[in-house]
Amino acid sequence: MPASRNSRPYVVLNAAMSLDGKIATFTGDSRMSSPADMRRVHRLRASVDAIMVGLRTLLRDDPKLTVRFVKAPKPYRIIVDSNALSPSSSHVVRTAREIPTIIAVTSRAPKKRVEALKEKGVTVILCGRGPLVSLKLLLNHLRSLRIRRILLEGGGTLNWSMLSNQLVDEISVAITPRILGGSTATTLIEGKGNALVRDAIQLKLLGSARYGPDLVVRYKVLGGINSADR
Ligand SMILES: NC(=O)c1ccc[n+]([C@@H]2O[C@H](COP(=O)([O-])OP(=O)(O)OC[C@H]3O[C@@H](n4cnc5c(N)ncnc54)[C@H](OP(=O)(O)O)[C@@H]3O)[C@@H](O)[C@H]2O)c1
Repeated sequence: MPASRNSRPYVVLNAAMSLDGKIATFTGDSRMSSPADMRRVHRLRASVDAIMVGLRTLLRDDPKLTVRFVKAPKPYRIIVDSNALSPSSSHVVRTAREIPTIIAVTSRAPKKRVEALKEKGVTVILCGRGPLVSLKLLLNHLRSLRIRRILLEGGGTLNWSMLSNQLVDEISVAITPRILGGSTATTLIEGKGNALVRDAIQLKLLGSARYGPDLVVRYKVLGGINSADR
């Protein structure tokens, strides 16, 4: 189903990355933003209707996905989790009655798991038959919930799926002054990738700024449905 202009929310991808493109070490350790960059991220969170992450980020980091340092309405939290494997003990599930929390699953997710999440106050959205969550269905559904602006906070696998489905409009990356190395360490964008440079997802530099020791670069994604340059 082709998406018409503005039929889905505007999506901003944000991450903190080492100079060599890693968003985590090979053990999955990912805390690398400076305090100045953390404040920028929370201002960004305060400007969106929802914050979205993939299942492996939830399992590895157990993030809160809340807004701190800034007074703002609570954005939805969205977990992309085909088989409803988000643990009941995770912070987002435990606090789902206080902060609106959506878990996007496929019809392959065991009913028992789905019911257990719903009992905790999670809104479970069915997005296709799998094996992975249909991100296009998810974003169309989110629009119907009046979610207009989403912050995509990784990880690399979900970032690739969102980008390769033309569902990302803008990218902000904090380049942190370190090199992590490691051939199995998660990079900003994972997935299959492009065979040829000419097939790359094209970007346009919007700006750059220093936040403490970090350099934040912002790009517009060209060719997306919300792009003026398509
Ligand atoms: N530095 C940073 O800014 C930053 C930010 C975020 C994360 N991280 C790090 O990144 C690492 C995790 O990244 P990751 O790449 O391994 O995993 P991820 O992108 O967080 O999660 C990927 C998982 O999402 C689920 N998924 C469901 N539908 C999907 C779809 N259509 N496309 C893609 N994924 C889908 C899949 O699991 P199922 O098949 O089970 O559903 C998939 O394995 C962690 O170490 C975390 O700490 C760093």
